[in-house]
Amino acid sequence: MTTERRHLLAVGDLTRADAERILDTASALERSLDREMKKLPTLRGRLVLNLFYESSTRTLSSFELAAKRLSADTMVLRASGSSVDKGESLRDTALTLAAYDPDVIVIRHPHIGASQLVAAATHAHVINAGDGKHQHPTQALLDLHTIRDALGRLDGVTVAIVGDVLHSRVARSLVEALLLVGAEPLLIAPPTLLPRNVEALGAKVSHSIDPLADVDVVYVLRMQAERMEASYVPSLREYTALYGVTPDRVRPGQVVMHPGPMNRGVEIDPRVADSGASLVTTQVRSGLVVRMAVLYDLLTAPGLHVAPVPVMEVA
Ligand code: NCD
Repeated sequence: MTTERRHLLAVGDLTRADAERILDTASALERSLDREMKKLPTLRGRLVLNLFYESSTRTLSSFELAAKRLSADTMVLRASGSSVDKGESLRDTALTLAAYDPDVIVIRHPHIGASQLVAAATHAHVINAGDGKHQHPTQALLDLHTIRDALGRLDGVTVAIVGDVLHSRVARSLVEALLLVGAEPLLIAPPTLLPRNVEALGAKVSHSIDPLADVDVVYVLRMQAERMEASYVPSLREYTALYGVTPDRVRPGQVVMHPGPMNRGVEIDPRVADSGASLVTTQVRSGLVVRMAVLYDLLTAPGLHVAPVPVMEVA
């Protein structure tokens, strides 16, 4: 992770050892959450501030709960209803909130680089919870955790990422994270839904859905209508016919993932989303423990974070 004041702004901030340490911490936390008393005292007295300029269900709720499960205080500021509505700049909002001395600021923002700006403007550890179509590093880590749990390994696992890669921060972060841990990403999309220099991402690319049959993990992306200014596909019906993940396209033994929110009947058939192969709710559970692990990792002095996570209960 970025040294000095440690942040998680992009998957590129992580070494393979960082990623593996966070996943190991997440697994240890997962075991501790099996007990009736779910709260750990680890971050008592710390303040985690969630600053959300874009809508969110899973990411915001899991950061909120992750901080609470570690006994930190939490605050949520959503752009709508705040002074952001009155035109306050991101920097001024960050400086205002920094006056409360938060230990961590979690930020989601439609503009690329927003988390860097907050990291530069405040003394908090900053976690990027999604900046435009750029990065979403905690989503990538929770997806690695989910795959490792389901398949028992990451090295050599083949993952097809299907759909709207062009507008997807999830795809960009996940490809990097998979390459970091020795897994093999394959991007499947029509040419119009791939970035221009897609080869630079380092994944294999297919314009046909046929190679889907050969992978271990089918990772479905949401069609990001809110980021599409022009028409990228002739029609959603045609997209679904060519690239929709339907029961006949999933073979036994494969697992299916989706970061949510799902457009049922567009990129994923409801029969697939609700099947035994689907790990969608497992991903949500992974989101909680992985975000706990990231908070723990950032707030624990370097060198100490390899120590086992304390599982004492709050008195
Ligand atoms: C993703 C996001 O917001 O980037 N959702 C999420 O965090 N679970 C993916 C999406 O919006 O399609």
